[in-house]
Formats: sequence, C-alpha cells, structure tokens
Amino acid sequence: MVLIRKKFRKQFGIIIFMILISSLIGCSAQKKDASQIEKDDGIIVGFSQIGAESAWRTCNTRSVQDAAAERGVQLVYANAEQKQENQIKALRSFIAYQVDVIVFVPIVTDGWDNVLQEARDAGIPVLVTDRKIDVEDQSLYAGFIGTDSLKEGRNAGLFVLDTFEHKREQLDPAKDHINIVELFGTEGSSVALGRAEGFREVLKSHPEYRIVYSKSGDFLRSKGYELAVEFLEMYDDIDVIYSHNDGMTLGVIEAMEERGLRPGKDIVIITIDAQQAAIDALREGKVNCVIECNPKTGPEIIKLAEKLAAGESIPRLQYVHEQVFYETDDLSLIEPRGY
Ligand code: AHR
Repeated sequence: MVLIRKKFRKQFGIIIFMILISSLIGCSAQKKDASQIEKDDGIIVGFSQIGAESAWRTCNTRSVQDAAAERGVQLVYANAEQKQENQIKALRSFIAYQVDVIVFVPIVTDGWDNVLQEARDAGIPVLVTDRKIDVEDQSLYAGFIGTDSLKEGRNAGLFVLDTFEHKREQLDPAKDHINIVELFGTEGSSVALGRAEGFREVLKSHPEYRIVYSKSGDFLRSKGYELAVEFLEMYDDIDVIYSHNDGMTLGVIEAMEERGLRPGKDIVIITIDAQQAAIDALREGKVNCVIECNPKTGPEIIKLAEKLAAGESIPRLQYVHEQVFYETDDLSLIEPRGY
C-alpha cells in the first residue's frame, strides 16, 4: 500500500499537493515544498492542529513538528484556526494526497464519522490526539494518545474538598455554601467535558459545594478576563475559581488585581495546563493548585504514526504522564516548563 501511494505521489505529487495545500486554511509551519517531499523517502503524516489559542497549543504543535523533523518524517501541517470545517477540509486534502497516516486534534467530539469513513475507504490509518472523539464505529480510528481530562477534573475536585475540609465542618449545609465559579473550555470539546465531569463527580455527594457560575471562555486569556469582569460584578462571595486552562486563569488574575482583589488569597484558584506563567503565579501565591496537562506528546505521536505506516497495531488508548503541583509543595523543585 505504501509503495502504491509513493508511486501515485511521484506521478501527481507536485501539482496536486500544491493545489490542495493552497486550499488549506492557515496551513503554514513545517509546510514542505513539494519537490522536497519527492526526494525524501520517509513517511508522510498529515497533521491537523486546531489553532494557536494558548501557550499549551503552541508547545504541542512545536513538539510534533520537532519530533517529525528528528525522525525524518515529512509533516504536512494544517492549522484549522478553531474551526471544525477547516479541519474536515484538511483531512479531506490529506486523503486526496494519500498521506501515509493522518494525525489530528479534534476541536470537538462530534461530527467526524463521514470524513473518517473516507479515510478508511482510502486505506489511511488515523491517530487521534489530545482531544477525544465520539463516533459510532470506534474502529474508524486506530487509537488515541493524550491527556486524561476526567482525571484532571477529579484532581481539581479533590483539591477543593481538601482545602475546605475544616471550613466545611462549620457550615450548615441547608444555608451555607462554598461558592464555585467554573471557567469552561471550548464547548463540545472532550477536554472541557471531561474536566467538568470529573470535578462534579467528586463534589456531587457534598451539597455544600455549589457551582454558581459556569461559562465557556474558549481556552482564551481574553475571554477569561471578560468573564471575570462579569462574575466579579455579579458575586461578592466567591470562594473558588476552577479554570479549565492557564490562559483563562491569567485573564482572571488580571481582572481580580484590577479590582484590588488578591488572587489565591481572597479566592482559591485552581488551573489546568502548568505553563510557566501558571507555575510562576503558584510561586507568588496567586494560584493554589496547578494541574498539568502535558503538551509534549510529539515523540510518542510520531512513534505511533511510524507504526501505523508500517501496518502495525497501536494501543487503543494511551494517556500521557501528568502531575499536580500544590501550593504546599517545595516549588523550587519544579523544572522550567518550556512553554
Ligand atoms: O486540549 C487541551 C487544551 O487546549 C489545553 O488545556 C488548553 O490550554 C488548550 O488550548
């Protein structure tokens, strides 16, 4: 199969590749010149990324690009700029070009059945990464590698329980509450859904904890700031802010400080990702708990893509190693994060 594809690419490669790639919206970094592709013997991987909404995302893209370069894998990279229709277009272009493997980060869980069926009909294996998908026929993709968002949500919930342990005992559950604000990630994305579900699962048997506000900030710092301006205006008794990513958290910190509030002291803050700025905020006492979401999955992704190109099977589900950083830890031990 790989040989037939290579022959096809030799005959039609330059023209088709140029046409297809020029139609891919936002396709840029690591874009290969067609003549370069013909000269190389390595496998070709089509990589559809969702955008550059956060420092986490930029690091994730770089990790895949660097790993591909290191292994001599040719990466056709497409940036979907936060639109599912751009991702579907990119996937269709990869199929038309007959890449050896498709790797993609699905922006949302639903809506992939048709295009993945097309990939299967073309004999191209698909690796899903970072965010999960919901398809009727699970065999439409070979496997998933990425974060365990349900666990991240549970860890956030456990931290809240632990932090308010003593205060809780003095509360009258009928009238006193611990008020929580949740900054939700992109609606319909598996990571936001998992982070929300895990959190609620831990708190559900404790009625004194109440989520009073939950809105999507789309994983963007600017929206985190905007939402914070709104909820700080609406409530003056917030105990906890649970933010689905560091970008939104940094926006919240800015909004709180502008109002003369002390983040991490007046309100407990839990954030997910563990980019350097969040670790710095943890050290300054502006954040109380940082849950890592590991973006450095490139080497493992490329290894799996190589296996798929060679016709080998891969694990169905692979979670990456992730840690939790607490305010009470020895924070001097945390290595520079690199993003
Ligand atoms: O899908 C992973 C999430 O997407 C990260 O937590 C967030 O920062 C990113 O934009």
